[in-house]
Amino acid sequence: MRYLGLLETYKDMLPVTDKTPMLTLHEGNTPLIRAENLSNELDLDIYFKYEGLNPTGSFKDRGMVMAVAKAMEEGSRTIMCASTGNTSAAAAAYAARGGLNCIVLIPNNNIALGKLAQAIIYGAKVIAIEGNFDRALEIVREITAKHPITLVNSVNPYRIEGQKTAAFEVSDQLGKAPDYLAIPVGNAGNISAYWKGFKEYYEQGKISSLPKMVGFEAEGAMAIVKGEPIAEPETIATAIRIGNPASWKTAVAAAEESGGQINYVTDEEILHAYKTIAGREGIFAEPASAASIAGVMKLKREGVFRGGETVVCVLTGHGLKDPNIAIKSVNAEPVVVEDSEAAVMEAIRKLEGE
Ligand code: F0G
Repeated sequence: MRYLGLLETYKDMLPVTDKTPMLTLHEGNTPLIRAENLSNELDLDIYFKYEGLNPTGSFKDRGMVMAVAKAMEEGSRTIMCASTGNTSAAAAAYAARGGLNCIVLIPNNNIALGKLAQAIIYGAKVIAIEGNFDRALEIVREITAKHPITLVNSVNPYRIEGQKTAAFEVSDQLGKAPDYLAIPVGNAGNISAYWKGFKEYYEQGKISSLPKMVGFEAEGAMAIVKGEPIAEPETIATAIRIGNPASWKTAVAAAEESGGQINYVTDEEILHAYKTIAGREGIFAEPASAASIAGVMKLKREGVFRGGETVVCVLTGHGLKDPNIAIKSVNAEPVVVEDSEAAVMEAIRKLEGE
């Protein structure tokens, strides 16, 4: 059967009414890919929920299709968000599709190039502030409270509703809930959404257990781990460079209720995991996404697992969002040689010798 997107597929589980436009870019339905090599190495049954294969290349499409459809249903003409890049790309795309205006506020010089390109080409009004994501979100909240503009950050509950569908998909794809669900934590909306989704599926009898939710912040932005906001968050994973997560409380609740934890990973651990999943599993995800598998490697070292547990790592965004980091992190530009067979063969021998 032809897949028709999240609103159609999950209308019984979502706030979809007769009046909700069935907006879609065929988001969702992303693959759950088994990590064949890492599973062996870590003595776990590891899967990647590859959210980079959504229409704009990140999980944000799940929440945005719901939030924009509801904005349209309510007669809104303009949506607005603060973003480290992926939310703005998704907002801009669904606004274009639905015929709405879109305004996005981003931290100047701190979003990946691919994400900026997306917001621009989809026709959003892009404003870069001399301040970080947390400040941008404060400003967006102030403006949308005073003007007829719909806020589409994840403090908009429809965003969480849409994003919870990923938990349904993971459960259906595995045929059960995983033992652990590992996920990067930035503004903390996604971990909250997954937990809501798993609980709803459990209440409906569609799964017979619940996963332990393990969320990972970047060390330089670990507000929840520290228990206090961070004024100047810093990390190579710009998507989660957030010092005062909006969904802080629900993220902590998800970890506590599920018997999981909110932990952190260093930039070094993120980059190592980022290169490992590309080089060993053939999966290219952006650095923030790699925080999930980096976190699992950390928990493995800390002796959290018995062995054999099913672990789903959410890979939240596509690696192509941020090609600069890929090139910088391996420190390799292509070797340039003369256009002859001999020169190419010589280059191959040299590279093999390295
Ligand atoms: N991974 C990626 C690739 C993201 O873009 C984000 C958040 C997260 C993880 C963290 O998810 O905020 O729900 O805890 N990006 C937001 C944005 C902040 O503006 O695109 P979260």
